[in-house]
Amino acid sequence: MSFHPPEPFRIKMVEPIHLIDKPEREKALKRAGYNIFGLNSDEVFIDLLTDSGTGAMSQDQWSGIMVGDESYAGARSYHRLTDVMNEIFGFKHFVPTHQGRAAENILCAVILKEGQYVPSNMHFDTTEGNIRARGGRPTNLVCQEAFDVSPDIPFKGNMDLDKLEEFINKVGPENIPLGMITITNNAGGGQPVSMKNLRGVSKIYRKYKIPFFIDACRFAENSYFIKLREPGYQDKSPLEIAQEIFSLADGATMSAKKDAIVNIGGFLATNDSELFEKVKSDCILREGFITYGGLAGRDLDAIAIGLREGLQEDYLAYRLGQTAYLASELKKIGIPVIEPAGGHAVYINAGELLPHIPQPEFPGQALSVEMYREGAIRSVELGSVAFAYPDPDSGEMIYPELDLVRLALPRRTYTQSHLDYVVEVMARIYKDKDKLSGYQIVKQPKLMRHFSAVFEPI
Ligand code: F0G
Repeated sequence: MSFHPPEPFRIKMVEPIHLIDKPEREKALKRAGYNIFGLNSDEVFIDLLTDSGTGAMSQDQWSGIMVGDESYAGARSYHRLTDVMNEIFGFKHFVPTHQGRAAENILCAVILKEGQYVPSNMHFDTTEGNIRARGGRPTNLVCQEAFDVSPDIPFKGNMDLDKLEEFINKVGPENIPLGMITITNNAGGGQPVSMKNLRGVSKIYRKYKIPFFIDACRFAENSYFIKLREPGYQDKSPLEIAQEIFSLADGATMSAKKDAIVNIGGFLATNDSELFEKVKSDCILREGFITYGGLAGRDLDAIAIGLREGLQEDYLAYRLGQTAYLASELKKIGIPVIEPAGGHAVYINAGELLPHIPQPEFPGQALSVEMYREGAIRSVELGSVAFAYPDPDSGEMIYPELDLVRLALPRRTYTQSHLDYVVEVMARIYKDKDKLSGYQIVKQPKLMRHFSAVFEPI
C-alpha cells in the first residue's frame, strides 16, 4: 500500500451515525422513489452524496463564527473576507452569494442573452442549468483524454484548445458573452486542469475578447495537483499557484461549500467595473446587500478562514491522499474507477461495471441504489440521469460518454476505517453485480431531473 498521509487533525466533537437494518433500507428506498436525494440523513450510514457544505469546520472557523459582525452594510466580517479575497484571487470586485449557483445565476442574468453559447471544459449541472434557464447553450470542450481510462494522464480536466478555437470561429465570438473553465472538473471525474492549459485557455479567450470566468469551487485541490504533477511548480506553495491561476482570468464564480470548507456560501468576482455595476443591482435584488450577499456576517468570517485553511499543504496532502486511497482499494477488488482519482471524489465507471444495463436504463442509478441497499452508503449518479438531454434541434436524447457514480468525500469528516467499510460493501456488490437490473423514470421535472425524478426498477 502506498503511503497516504494520516488526518492532520484530531477529533474534538463527534456526530453519531447509525446503520439501520436492511428491511428498513428497502422501505426507505421505495418511499424515496429509488432516488437517493429522497432519503433522510438518518437513513444513511456513510453519506458520500456530496462534498458540498458537508465538511467539518475547524476550531478557528468556529471561533470566527463568534466574532461575526451582523451589520447590514460594511460589516467587519466583509472586510476580513475582502482581505483574503484580494490575497488569493486578486479580482477587483466581488459579491458574496449564498451558494455557487447564486453566483452563476447573477452572472448569467447580467451577461447572457438567449441563443448565446458558453464554452467550458465541462459545466457542472447547476452552471449548465443556469445557462439553459436564460436560453443559453452550454458547450463542453474537455480534452479527449477525459474519457480515456488509462491512469497515467495527469490533467484530464484540460480544455481541448484546438476544439475551443474552432468552436469560437464556428459560432462567432460575438455569440459568446463569456467563456469558462471548471477547476477541478467535477462533471468529468474531479480531474485537474494544468497551469499550461489554463494559460492557453486564457490566451484564446483574450484573443477573441471573451471574458474568462473560472468556476473555482475546488481551486485549492487543483492548485495542489499542479504542485504535485506539473513541472516547475514543485517549490511553489498552493497559494502562489492559486494566485497565478486567477491572474489569468477576468472573474470567477465559487461555491465556498467546497474548498472554503464551510456549510454555506459562495461568491462572484470580476475585474470588469461596468459589469460589476449590474452585478451589484442583481445581487441586491436576489441575494442581499453587496457586503453580505445572502449570508450572515459570521458566514463570511468562516469563509475567510476556510479559504486559507483549504490551501494548507498538510491538509491538501491528506485530502488528495484519501481519494487516492479509496480509489486504489476499490481497484484492487475489481471495481473500475476513474484514474487517477479526483481531488474530492472517486468516480466508479458504472457503465463498465454493469455492461448488461444500457444507458437508457441508467447503470449508474442501478449501482447507486444498490450501494444504499447493501450498505446504507449514499453516492450520486453522474451519468445518463444527470446529464442526458434532448437535442434542442432534433429532440433526440443525447447521452453522456460515461455513466459514473461519484463517491464524494466530505472534507475532514470520515476516517480511513469509514472508507474501508465502503470498500467491503463494494466487494459484496461486485460478487452479484450481474444480477443487478436497470431503472426507468416514471416522473421527472424539466430541468435538473436527477434531484427529484421518481424511478421504478425494470
Ligand atoms: N460548480 C461546481 C463545479 C460544483 O461542483 C457545484 C456544486 C457548483 C458549481 C454549484 O455550487 O452547490 O454551492 O450552488 N456541486 C455540488 C456537488 C452540489 O455535489 O458537486 P452550489
